Amino acid sequence: MSDPAVPQMAERVVSRRRLLTWLNLAFGALAAAVVSVPIVAYLLSPLLEMRQTWVRLGPVNQFRIGATQEVAYDDPSPLPWAGQTARTAVWVRRISETEFTVFAVNCTHLGCPVNWLPEADLFMCPCHGGVYYADGTVAGGPPPRPLFRYATRIQDGNLEILSRPLPIG
Ligand code: FES
Repeated sequence: MSDPAVPQMAERVVSRRRLLTWLNLAFGALAAAVVSVPIVAYLLSPLLEMRQTWVRLGPVNQFRIGATQEVAYDDPSPLPWAGQTARTAVWVRRISETEFTVFAVNCTHLGCPVNWLPEADLFMCPCHGGVYYADGTVAGGPPPRPLFRYATRIQDGNLEILSRPLPIG
């Protein structure tokens, strides 16, 4: 004589096993999505970084002719999670009433911020001793190329630069 409860229990065990299998697959898919989204975003970031934007640095009369001064600004990074790292700077030199030269603050060796030494008329990199002349060309050390220069324009009495990803390294 067979027990009528046995097939019912077997059915319950099978459905529980099926439920656990589905939960396992669902959590696996969720974990894969959590891991893969930043990786895919990283791989696609060069495409997003092609974007160029004009960034306002400030009124032109805040820059003295012949002087080189640092200006900090928020890089219009397309990466919403850039946070504090989006804060960057440039070296602005006012050549004449309407002419400016704007250098990236980053050394072309490994990207350390360079300092302007007015008494020596040189940019110095504190990381590995890279030295640049006042026009941004390399004077010595490991930097492979001159400081990056931004395109500039004057708009409504303000100096603006065309911000874009830097070719560093
Ligand atoms: S990062 Fe400037 S010399 Fe290396």
